[in-house]
Amino acid sequence: MKAYHGLVSVVLLTLVAAQDPAQFVNPFIGTQNGGHVFPGATLPWGSVKPGADSRSGDNQAGFVSDGTPITGISQLHDDGTGGSSSLGQFALLPLTHTECANNDLTRCTVDHSERALGHGDPVASPGYFSIPLNNGVQAEVTVTEHTALHRFTYKAGTDQLLLLLDVTSDLAYRYQGDGKVTVSPNSKTHGTRITGTGRWIPSFGQNTYQAYFCFDAPRTFAHAKYYETSAGKQTYTDLEQSAEFEKDVQRSAPAGVLLAFAPEKDGRTLEVRMGVSWTSAEKACAYAEEEIPDISAFDGVHAAARAKWNQVLGAIEVDATGVSDDTQQLFWTSLYRTEPYWDSFYCIWDTFRVVHPLYAITAPTAQAQIIRALIDIYAHTGWLPDCRMSLDKGFTQGGSNADSLLADSFVKGLKEGFGIDWEKGFEAMVKDATVMGDFEVEGRGSVNSRAKLGFIPANDNDHPPSGGANTRSASRLLEYAYNDFDIALVAQGLGKKPETAHYFNKSNDWFNIWNPDAEHSGFKGFIQPKKADGGWFFDSRYDHGDVFRPDHCSPVFGHNDCYGGWGGGEFYEASSWEYSFYVPHDMASLVVAMGGPDTFSSRLDHFFEAGFHDMGDEPGFLPTYLYNYVGQPAKTVDRVDAMVAMYYNTSVNGLPGNDDSGSMGAYAVWSHLGFYPVAGQDTYLLNRPYFPKVTFRNEVTGSVAIIIASGLSAENKYIQSATLNGEKYTKNWISHDLFTYGGTLELVMGSSKDSKWGTGEGDLPPSLSTGGFGCLACVSPLKGGGAGSSGTSGAESGGAVSGGGGVENAPNKGWQRGCG
Ligand SMILES: *[C@@H]1O[C@H](CO)[C@@H](O)[C@H](O)[C@H]1NC(C)=O
Ligand SMILES: *[C@@H]1O[C@H](CO)[C@@H](O)[C@H](O)[C@H]1NC(C)=O
Repeated sequence: MKAYHGLVSVVLLTLVAAQDPAQFVNPFIGTQNGGHVFPGATLPWGSVKPGADSRSGDNQAGFVSDGTPITGISQLHDDGTGGSSSLGQFALLPLTHTECANNDLTRCTVDHSERALGHGDPVASPGYFSIPLNNGVQAEVTVTEHTALHRFTYKAGTDQLLLLLDVTSDLAYRYQGDGKVTVSPNSKTHGTRITGTGRWIPSFGQNTYQAYFCFDAPRTFAHAKYYETSAGKQTYTDLEQSAEFEKDVQRSAPAGVLLAFAPEKDGRTLEVRMGVSWTSAEKACAYAEEEIPDISAFDGVHAAARAKWNQVLGAIEVDATGVSDDTQQLFWTSLYRTEPYWDSFYCIWDTFRVVHPLYAITAPTAQAQIIRALIDIYAHTGWLPDCRMSLDKGFTQGGSNADSLLADSFVKGLKEGFGIDWEKGFEAMVKDATVMGDFEVEGRGSVNSRAKLGFIPANDNDHPPSGGANTRSASRLLEYAYNDFDIALVAQGLGKKPETAHYFNKSNDWFNIWNPDAEHSGFKGFIQPKKADGGWFFDSRYDHGDVFRPDHCSPVFGHNDCYGGWGGGEFYEASSWEYSFYVPHDMASLVVAMGGPDTFSSRLDHFFEAGFHDMGDEPGFLPTYLYNYVGQPAKTVDRVDAMVAMYYNTSVNGLPGNDDSGSMGAYAVWSHLGFYPVAGQDTYLLNRPYFPKVTFRNEVTGSVAIIIASGLSAENKYIQSATLNGEKYTKNWISHDLFTYGGTLELVMGSSKDSKWGTGEGDLPPSLSTGGFGCLACVSPLKGGGAGSSGTSGAESGGAVSGGGGVENAPNKGWQRGCG
């Protein structure tokens, strides 16, 4: 792979004024049915994410389209997460004399769960969220990077504009104390400033975090009260406009402020500014003053936010001739949801596959900053994270997939000029592979047992230092093997020959838990956990009579058995049926192990048709494209089309699972673009575009990549032939060169599934054992190339072992549900 050749200057984006992709963004897609999508206002990668919070069991991201009442408009959220509800601090709730009789501030209901108000239909678009509350107040909000600007419009004739500011509640009721509230006059705004902070437990991580806000109302209040709640009862302190007030807030006394403003001129509107920071209240105030000096400039701030979104979304341009509005809405909304997140890695296990590879094309500068942040986290904490949110360590899901995230950008040329210390990055990856950290939250587990055995035994004694669950032995080994392949790719690029050979070799370890004799549903050969003595492991809870059940954890059998924590079993959030397809660096060997191309292809068909595939979780993405590895790209087209049609739509329930920081959306984006990243390597598998023409502008090199699908129609959706920069192109995959250097890939579409395009041996995507990735010395583990013995047969290995991993012994880690 060639590098950027020192092309370091950031080329200004050529804005295409005519395109307004923001018009196609519908932030409510996925706000029901477990999508957990955040529909509030945010900038791309912005820190502040204000939106309404529903009093709903499904409010991981705040608002849910299920009609449940609203507890407030809070300032911080995550998108699409599993686990418990995330963030939700510093809620504002506009009140009237209906909720506070006689406008008496001591008579409003302040309790987070009891104060909720019914509402009408909300409206949202990039950078804007609005909801009519049943007390007659319209709540609107728009944003800059760290500052939310709220506008509340009360009913005509309202005599007092009341507002509640909740300092200590979050969505999951995890306030831990160390709160503080200050109220003071602000001479700059001729109004009232309130600052505050608190400490909370993160939704999928360890320890606690502190967050800060800075509230400004540019007018003096008529009256106001500070409230604290103790044993269900409120105590109130009168506040005076000209006096300073300061109060520490204990864990036992959650608190907030109630404000009453007299109506001014036009009477009904109240605009307030809310800065946030993860470091201090001073910082929150500085952000707020710098980003929104004029609190009355709501419409201007909103217009700027939308323009920023159009600029970022404009990295991709589509010709939508003949494409329905619905398809455009699905595409742009999905792209929109992949861009707002970056201060939460929630979690890399979900996002490394589809979100970060997208940034490598649409936003390489942001992606380089993300990598620098990850390497900094390694420098400060000792290991790379899988999950990290609100400055806390989050729970690891499977492999050390930060390795694959880093390698993906490395092989795509994010090197010279991006300020990334790749030697340090490589050091971090090697540490993952060689030094066991607290696998619960960083690096890898079972490093020592794997070094000894070549696999991770079920019920491994090599526990994380924190005493966390050392389960998922089979899926982790597959992921670690692929992570090792990625370490090799970076070693290779840095000219480190011994490390390259070592880690390419380690990537064969998947074969050490390949049981060629395991049989299920008409197919033979599965990934199966092993015991430390080399015998096959049977889980007494599911594998009755020592019949291994590779469909366990799939939608048809024990779907919810396989999350993190004790009792989660040996596969994480997917079945052996699905994980047995996960050898992205050496699919050629896997095809042989499964019995050759025809069996592989019919096995894939069966996998989907028998219900073993799970589109609602990220390991289910790549299998939909795997027909390309046996030269059947037309079947990939059919499979991907079926997935998009079956699992995605533009309604509030239009996602197959948790969005996971835009991951579900990113699958839809790639599918519509016509190619899909094998994350962690420079391979994109081709399906077919949903648009006749797609254009990508590289913000760094200025290069323009164009994919044309000529003759595309509902029937003409199979590639018949192709040219790349005018030359005949028969491979069913492309590399990142198209996006680094620019160029044109022209696909000639037709209705025939029998075209020879992409079907030849030389057209297949790269595999290590067939000389791919520049590894001429690599041999298939099937030929004894490094991997250990294929283990003893199931019959020999005896009864199931349950060891210390039983559910009944599980310490309650509070995260039995997975993140992804
Ligand atoms: C939209 O997709 C969801 C999730 O896959 C599905 O449950 C729902 O039935 C679909 N709705 C429509 C109208 O197709
Ligand atoms: C590859 O790994 C196997 C098994 O661990 C080992 O026996 C072999 O020497 C290794 N080969 C290289 C080139 O590192």
